[in-house]
Amino acid sequence: MIQAQVLGLRKRFGDNEILKGVSLNVDKGEVVCIIGPSGSGKTTFLRCLNLLEEPDEGSYALGENVRCDFGHVGANQRRMIARQTAMVFQSYELFHHMTAVQNVMEGLITPRKMPRAKAKKIATDMLERVGMADKADMYPAQLSGGQQQRVGIARAMALSPDLLLFDEPTSALDPELVGDVLKVMRDVADSGQTMVVVTHEMQFAKEVADQVVFMAGGVVVESGKPADIFEHPQKDATCRFLSNFDLDASDSEATPSDGDSPDVPAPEVPSLDTPLLNTSSTDTDPSDADSPESQS
Ligand SMILES: Nc1ncnc2c1ncn2[C@@H]1O[C@H](COP(=O)(O)OP(=O)(O)O)[C@@H](O)[C@H]1O
Ligand SMILES: [Mg+2]
Repeated sequence: MIQAQVLGLRKRFGDNEILKGVSLNVDKGEVVCIIGPSGSGKTTFLRCLNLLEEPDEGSYALGENVRCDFGHVGANQRRMIARQTAMVFQSYELFHHMTAVQNVMEGLITPRKMPRAKAKKIATDMLERVGMADKADMYPAQLSGGQQQRVGIARAMALSPDLLLFDEPTSALDPELVGDVLKVMRDVADSGQTMVVVTHEMQFAKEVADQVVFMAGGVVVESGKPADIFEHPQKDATCRFLSNFDLDASDSEATPSDGDSPDVPAPEVPSLDTPLLNTSSTDTDPSDADSPESQS
């Protein structure tokens, strides 16, 4: 069963066409990993899926109720898209004046009008799931980057989205903090959650993805099963991109070769219309530097 279907998505910033007709099918329960060099439009595409960016053209089907043409999305469809999607951001985007549990509760209380007690129960369960139950009352500044990102995942999961979007969730983390976050993401994937993950963690993509999509220059260059893309890529551009990474057959998490990602993340572009996005810049959060990550 198809959970999300995008056809011919085009997105321009001014005269610059960033996405040039991108199509994607995501089946229910599927994990799709999007890979590709910096500037290919991966983040923009992800943000189009929950309308943090407004696409110019294309059509979108999401779950059973959303059927719309981009460029003419009605208020009702817009609300449903917001309700059925959630995003985990590269730079966590937690509210710094709220504790971990308050951050997770916020998306349930303000936009969804859920009673506090019920929201707290869900938030507590979600923090438990990401191994952060004992840090529920800590503020983001008291948490390592990996811990903040696990709160970010709990916050997104709390919304029980039909489609969970991750934008390079580990790329702002010190290498030793990456594993815990990837482990949580594997658990989420194993639970049957439908996910679209933009990532440079090729080993994760190889092991967890059902479908890998290679994007470059605003188009999907090729897509397929991990074995097809990683072992038998058909396009030169895919081969060139993958040659930057050490991919081995072991089960361990691999990071890009030399620890040096070819993708310098583009700065997050704050959006004005998301209830979950703390628009204050958290890109250079000092709290993840050198803080010990202790898995509970
Ligand atoms: N809000 C924006 N305004 C203008 N250009 C943007 C904006 N957001 C992204 N871009 C441009 O779109 C291109 C693709 O960016 P992005 O989607 O972040 O790529 P990726 O995530 O693959 O690195 C880049 O050239 C970037 O500068
Ligand atoms: Mg990006």
